[in-house]
Amino acid sequence: MKHLIDPTDLTKQEIDEIISLAQDIIAHRERYQGSMSHKKLATLFYEPSTRTRLSFTSAMMELGGNVLGFSDARSSSVSKGESVQDTVRVVGCFADVIAMRHHIEGAQLYATEVSTVPIINAGDGSHSHPTQTLTDLLTIQRELGHIDGITIGFCGDLRFGRTVHSLIKALSRYKDIKVILIAPDELKLPDYIKQDVCERTGIPYREVATMEEVMGELDVLYMTRVQKERFLDEDEFDRVKDSFVLDAARMSLAKKKMAVLHPLPRVNEILTEVDADPRAAYFRQVENGKFVREALIVKLLEWKDDPEHGMPADETPVEDPELRCPNKKCICNNEHAPHRFRRTENGVLRCWYCDSKVR
Ligand code: CP
Repeated sequence: MKHLIDPTDLTKQEIDEIISLAQDIIAHRERYQGSMSHKKLATLFYEPSTRTRLSFTSAMMELGGNVLGFSDARSSSVSKGESVQDTVRVVGCFADVIAMRHHIEGAQLYATEVSTVPIINAGDGSHSHPTQTLTDLLTIQRELGHIDGITIGFCGDLRFGRTVHSLIKALSRYKDIKVILIAPDELKLPDYIKQDVCERTGIPYREVATMEEVMGELDVLYMTRVQKERFLDEDEFDRVKDSFVLDAARMSLAKKKMAVLHPLPRVNEILTEVDADPRAAYFRQVENGKFVREALIVKLLEWKDDPEHGMPADETPVEDPELRCPNKKCICNNEHAPHRFRRTENGVLRCWYCDSKVR
């Protein structure tokens, strides 16, 4: 069965198929209307969302299918203590595909172990957000006409920003990508992405302290919100926050052909004066999210029983009863998921579910 939990669950060919189907849906919307009639999508959202949940709903409606689910887990039997695995077993009796957002990292991967229908990770804590990644890839393709060869600057909260982690993983499948990381020390990209993704796959990256010094190099500027709540020291936040605000003056330093992306919501990191700039792609990006989710639903249901499109070859997990994942927000510290680990190529032991470094 094909699920989408992490961008690396898709081969480059599968990503290309989804992006190309999304483009065909945009060009010929009428051809796809009704193609999912009698199919049902369940949206299980344990965490707030505007774009992801509503774009999944809108996508399924455009395809002629139906949608059920919850936008607040407190209104479901989760409030009575029902586990993630039991919830997906039950919902699999009612729906053909499940899109799930959870604040607990690894919850969706754990759910796949018992699910009878494809599961789509619609965001798990700070870990991963693969359908935002598909949205971002489609947007870059449509804005610039290509993904290979781009220089992309990631700006803001690169530590907790799950969209950043997922997009870098996906870009590692493309040619000649250069990454520039623009973040305060407190919010730098986690080592596991730098080492296990950038260094392992040979993506050159460099870290800089200001936007100004790199604006002119970028084909894509990927903005994220600097999250005040992550700072222990408010003075420190006040010191760095304005270095990461995109305004018209900073846009004047950028190439004529470039694209500003943001997964949204924004707070104040892109001033509204930038919105009218033709390079501001973030609201077009939102609409692309609907088309790419239409394509994903179609493809996952098409691939469901096709052995050519399974999950990546199984690694054997390391099981050691003495070891514990250190991440309090990991599924294995919140439900009865086993403490399982994977050994990376550089010998580091990481949690099977959330990728936290264990040893
Ligand atoms: N981009 C994104 O995930 O937005 P929501 O949190 O509104 O779904």
